[in-house]
Amino acid sequence: MTPNTPQLSRQQALDKCFSPSTLNGLELKNRLIKAGTFENMSPAGRPSAALREFHGRLADGGVAMTTIGYCAVAADGRLNENMLYMHDGLREELSELVAEIHRRGSKVSGQMGHCGGFSKNRELRARRPKGPSFTLNGLGFAHGMFFASAMTADDIDTMVQQYHQAAVFMKSVGFDALEIHFGHGYGLCQFISPKTNRRKDEYGGSLDNRMRLPLRVLAAVRDAVGSDFPILGKISMTEGVRGGIHYDEAVEISRMLDRAGIDAIVCSGGTSTMNPMIMFRGDNILPTLLASERNRLMKLVLKLAGKSMFRDYPYHDLYFLEQAKRIREAVDCQLVYIGGATSCDNFADLMAAGFDYIQLGRSLLSDPELPNRSARDAGFRSRCLHCNECVGTIESPQGIYCTRF
Ligand SMILES: Cc1cc2nc3c(=O)[nH]c(=O)nc-3n(C[C@H](O)[C@H](O)[C@H](O)COP(=O)(O)O)c2cc1C
Repeated sequence: MTPNTPQLSRQQALDKCFSPSTLNGLELKNRLIKAGTFENMSPAGRPSAALREFHGRLADGGVAMTTIGYCAVAADGRLNENMLYMHDGLREELSELVAEIHRRGSKVSGQMGHCGGFSKNRELRARRPKGPSFTLNGLGFAHGMFFASAMTADDIDTMVQQYHQAAVFMKSVGFDALEIHFGHGYGLCQFISPKTNRRKDEYGGSLDNRMRLPLRVLAAVRDAVGSDFPILGKISMTEGVRGGIHYDEAVEISRMLDRAGIDAIVCSGGTSTMNPMIMFRGDNILPTLLASERNRLMKLVLKLAGKSMFRDYPYHDLYFLEQAKRIREAVDCQLVYIGGATSCDNFADLMAAGFDYIQLGRSLLSDPELPNRSARDAGFRSRCLHCNECVGTIESPQGIYCTRF
């Protein structure tokens, strides 16, 4: 908690949760934001009617801002070919999507992503996906894409330029805010992580060097959207692997983003590449992934490596709270809590601890009406069971959904 944060009673904290607030000039009607959850509702890379309805229902349910999950900044920044990438060919559809969500009462953020060296995109234009260092590309095995190449200095400049262009485009189609993905093992996280970044040039080694590209990206996005447009950044406070980003370093990473002018930091954790369960907690997703995997090679890889990658982390509410509080103490920018916030008690605790916003993933998948319901009922608790079966639906033809309700 920042030193000047007043002690709030439960009622005052809940009042704060359901009262308006401003994020770099953007009026938000309450403190609840839909977390980016890749929807898989953009077949062949085009936003579908289902995507519009998915976010429209969230808007109807009272969320202050919804986030379009994983908007790749370039064609090769996609993990697979059914992801959106930001280019002028989508102008009309994306403008309509954003306008529809606005009509239904919610603001819209776009999560800017680049997969780096972690891809199974069959439409990849480069010979291989590219990350900070040459490595195995675990995701690409099924498609014969076994390796990722190390980016050259020119590749790095190109990536910065791609973020800039994507940000100009996204602002022009009506997004109210942008969220740069610095976490979860994707491209920028691969640079921040000492585990995946083994470069010997000025982009590798010390934290200053590993943050050079992420900070260049933040500066490029800021330059693209101007000083009065909200930019959030989602970080992994830990990768949950030896030699990776850890909680102490995350405090310093947050300070660097804060000093560089980010408006809000989303304090997540884990990586899709090495340790996803620390991000979710609860029921392990490995059995679902094994059951749905059609490719024999990938099935074998999952069988061999699955146990060490998909470790068990029991679920409890607010599982990132203690570590996120350390970041609250270290930075001046606004802070977004994420991870197991499911009840009015949780919302009150988070507001009292000095967080500005709360991002919700699975609980909003299980019930898009959650914000309206919790505003009416101070005893509200989400029905989400953290079974994590929704994570397994990420490749389903109809897109993600809650399998239980
Ligand atoms: C189906 C699904 C898809 C997800 N896709 C993304 C994504 O595209 N980008 C991202 O940053 N996080 C993604 N996440 C992680 C969530 O944003 C969030 O960090 C996580 O679910 C923990 O929050 P929760 O306890 O409120 O669900 C996804 C989560 C789920 C359940």
